[in-house]
Amino acid sequence: MVDLSADFSLLPYNTFGFDVRARYACTVRHQSDVSALLSEPRLIGLPRLVLGGGSNVVLAGAFDGVVWLMRLQGRRLVRQDAQAFYVEAAAGEVWHDFVAWTLQQGWPGLENLALIPGTVGAAPIQNIGAYGLELAEYVERVRGVDLGTGESREFDAAACQFGYRDSFFKNQGRGRFLIVAVTFRLPKQWQARANYADVAHALTARGIGQASAQDIFDAVVEIRRSKLPDPAVIGNAGSFFKNPVVPAAQFETLKAREPGLVSYVQADGRFKLAAGWLIDQCGWKGRALGAAGVHPRQALVLVNRGGADGPAILALAAAIRASVHQRFGVELEAEPVVV
Ligand code: EPU
Repeated sequence: MVDLSADFSLLPYNTFGFDVRARYACTVRHQSDVSALLSEPRLIGLPRLVLGGGSNVVLAGAFDGVVWLMRLQGRRLVRQDAQAFYVEAAAGEVWHDFVAWTLQQGWPGLENLALIPGTVGAAPIQNIGAYGLELAEYVERVRGVDLGTGESREFDAAACQFGYRDSFFKNQGRGRFLIVAVTFRLPKQWQARANYADVAHALTARGIGQASAQDIFDAVVEIRRSKLPDPAVIGNAGSFFKNPVVPAAQFETLKAREPGLVSYVQADGRFKLAAGWLIDQCGWKGRALGAAGVHPRQALVLVNRGGADGPAILALAAAIRASVHQRFGVELEAEPVVV
């Protein structure tokens, strides 16, 4: 039996806090709900939007379709061998709570990804990453449902085609598969990942030399709290743009002109530029266009200052892209999905 709510407000279900309505919404608590929804006559032919924490989406207007609110629960140790713990979590688990729980169990590895908003099921879609770690490194397998046939489908890490804030699920797989669970392979030979400048500084400030996983978790939580706005207090979707990756020649030209340019060389010889720095240099930090603003402590984060809607945020984003392009000749690409 499918429990559908009609004319449903998505206000509490998107971290920008946009007050848009959906024609229908339903909560997915069990995998059996999925097959029931796929065969529900009222929903045949309607567009579908799957929401986890709603923390990486810009709802640009009313959604004339059905929203699936993913609440599948469950987390467990699947197995272990000499090398690793294999830990599975259902898509609706809250990401940060899952990370904290793995540490409590004595299975470190995910600590650099503490406090990232959202759910486990959404995490592989944009291959969440922070402070020197990407989710992709620890994904063993993603379990999905083919929304065309209703059949289960397993994706190993290669099939997920992970890239920087990117995956198969964001490209060819978009809208075709529902992620229901993710299995992580957490190596028993744990090594602290504490090179990222902010993390190293936070640990030094606390007088910590040999950091434990819990020390890194605590440091990351502290850094995120100090730089990034809490979506429960001020609406936002984390970084609004990806850090652009440019060819070496373009980087050299820019660097000669802008010695302060913040960059990271990539394995393929290209350079990733800190978009936050580019935006900051254009004078956008702390500025606003109406109710849509740029966070005063991280120029990469756009915020809803109260009463903003999707078009207001997109107008601000367009103005920022134009400034950055004009000054640096670099194209910024939005990170969240626009619906
Ligand atoms: N910077 C500025 N001004 C700003 C913001 C940043 O000059 O307003 C400079 C910083 O001083 C630093 C550099 O830019 O030298 C990079 O800044 P930061 O360390 O804050 O990281 P980021 O590149 O802006 C990325 C991720 C974040 C992640 C952090 C930490 C992307 C798009 N963003 O931001 O991810 O938390 O690194 O690893 O890759 C997210 O995706 O939603 C997100 C928050």
